[in-house]
Amino acid sequence: MSRTRTAPSKPNRTSGHPSGDERYKAIDLTMKRFKFRKDVLLEVLNTAQETFGFLSEDLLIYVSRQLDVSLVKVYGVATFYHMFTFNPLGEHNTIVCTGTACHVKGADKIVERIAEAYDIEPGETTPDGLLSLTIARCIGSCGLAPVAVFDGKVMGKETSEGMLTHIRDIIAASEEKIPEGSGA
Ligand code: FES
Repeated sequence: MSRTRTAPSKPNRTSGHPSGDERYKAIDLTMKRFKFRKDVLLEVLNTAQETFGFLSEDLLIYVSRQLDVSLVKVYGVATFYHMFTFNPLGEHNTIVCTGTACHVKGADKIVERIAEAYDIEPGETTPDGLLSLTIARCIGSCGLAPVAVFDGKVMGKETSEGMLTHIRDIIAASEEKIPEGSGA
């Protein structure tokens, strides 16, 4: 009996995103650097999050296609890690670490307090687009627990009230800097 051999299917990879959006080049570069290995999915999603600020469905489909990894797997990894967001972030962004060290030192209270003050849940942005609240598992600064990162600035060893005061002060200061008549 003769056996027919089926050739392994080739990934349906395209050269760049059809939209021509230049930001996809950063993702392509990361994939190329790792020779399109499937096990660098997390690294690629990181680049995508950094470049676009959030992971849109289109972005996840693109990564799935280019790496030849199922969309289900891409979604699975993206939703497992709290550092990924699926909606555009607000003007200001707070990431509260809820890893073990931070949890023990009261991170949950900080999340609760910010959520209550701005009426949003983790992963959400205020309707006016002013503030996003994100949670992370461990951001590698456990000695400063509890830790939050606000607009890229690390804040450690804070109480929930102290953290909230910092956030309010920074937001107020940035609003004062907006020149009059800018329409903002
Ligand atoms: S657990 Fe929060 S920084 Fe490590």
